[in-house]
Amino acid sequence: MRTLLAQLIVTRTQNGKLLRFPERFLWGTATSTTQVEGHINNEWTDFIARDGGNCRIACDHYHRYPEDIEWMSKLGVNAYRFGIEWSRLQAEPFGSLDQNELARYVDLLDRLLAAGITPMVVLHHFSNPPWINAPGGWTNESTIPAFVDYVEKLVAALKDRVCLWNTFNEPDTYACLAYLLGGFPPQLSWQLRKFRHVINNMARAHEQASRIIQRDAGAGRQPQVGIAKNWTFFHAYRRFSPWDRLTASASHYTFNKYVLNAFLGGRRRAASTFIGLNYYGRVRFHHFNAMIPASGAPAKRLEGFGFVCDDMVERYPEGLGKILPYLNRRLRLPIYITEHGAASADEAFRARDLLGYLAVLHGAMTDGADVRGFFYWSLLDNFEWQFGYSKKFGLLSVDFNDERLPRRMKPLAEVYRRVCCENSIGV
Ligand code: FCB
Repeated sequence: MRTLLAQLIVTRTQNGKLLRFPERFLWGTATSTTQVEGHINNEWTDFIARDGGNCRIACDHYHRYPEDIEWMSKLGVNAYRFGIEWSRLQAEPFGSLDQNELARYVDLLDRLLAAGITPMVVLHHFSNPPWINAPGGWTNESTIPAFVDYVEKLVAALKDRVCLWNTFNEPDTYACLAYLLGGFPPQLSWQLRKFRHVINNMARAHEQASRIIQRDAGAGRQPQVGIAKNWTFFHAYRRFSPWDRLTASASHYTFNKYVLNAFLGGRRRAASTFIGLNYYGRVRFHHFNAMIPASGAPAKRLEGFGFVCDDMVERYPEGLGKILPYLNRRLRLPIYITEHGAASADEAFRARDLLGYLAVLHGAMTDGADVRGFFYWSLLDNFEWQFGYSKKFGLLSVDFNDERLPRRMKPLAEVYRRVCCENSIGV
């Protein structure tokens, strides 16, 4: 730890300061199967997003991953966090893995490794095979052994190539949008019991999957396993309004505290060797309304309140300086920032946003937070779930009007490339 701290150098330059990150820090980018691959058969296949879009082709990463890895090399990243799609690999419960689909993921991994890019594999990112959804998905505890069986077979096949395993991506977001707010399939509302079942079943599955992952060490280094927890700060808009406070504290309790306890409380803490943190920002509540663009609050109105937002949530870089020490103290586990990004057509805003969050990250690390890597969300503009193609998170744009789906670096890609190559930021 001391050596890591010694590498967090701050140098004064003519124009300000240069903040250097530790050697071997992972600078990555992230995607998920449903959002980029296309040609998928899961619960999103027939889903029509608010902008009329669907994920049937998405970015066609399914066929274009060799090209996308070349783009990653141009970006200078040394890590890639991506999903493996369960519905592709297992056609029935406890079935054997589809060898052709497996070979495609093996090829993707081999190309990443040949390019010097460390893979982090996500096992569950908001999607399931149809045969899991039919009997109730993660509300049904029989999903646990089915998932663990899949993980056992997958890990046996990939353990020589993969060290970093991310079992579940944002279980809180998944359970909330699918069973409380109706944004994700199966689009149910206010089913709090189902929300809890999903969280607890996933937490049990994480524990069992983790045992398998840690048992089956491959030729590489000792495998690392963790979940990616979305952390949103929920605050009252008016500090003294009981309604604002009630909504904020109920949200904090349900989505942060309850979920963190389910996955990492008590003996479950031993099931993780790292914690992934997806951090975007803050939601403030006015009465029972979330004051963020993602909930439909008009950007102009939010500006009037003095809020700085991207096309989704309020920006709150200071929050990173609060959550990192908290997780560090509470869990004593290495941390990866498994997602951070901003959706906006304003690239100058996105660059300021990125550098602002990274400066806070550097400060928190200097104060002792053991952060090992940062993954920018996302490599490509992609299918942003219920919002379709309207939210532009990509370092690269994709022209969805051209059937060849050409990619192009956006100005932010150059900013991020410099960060990755220089392992430092100028502020
Ligand atoms: C996260 C999700 C990811 C993407 C980004 C914008 O909550 O994990 O798939 O939707 O937000």
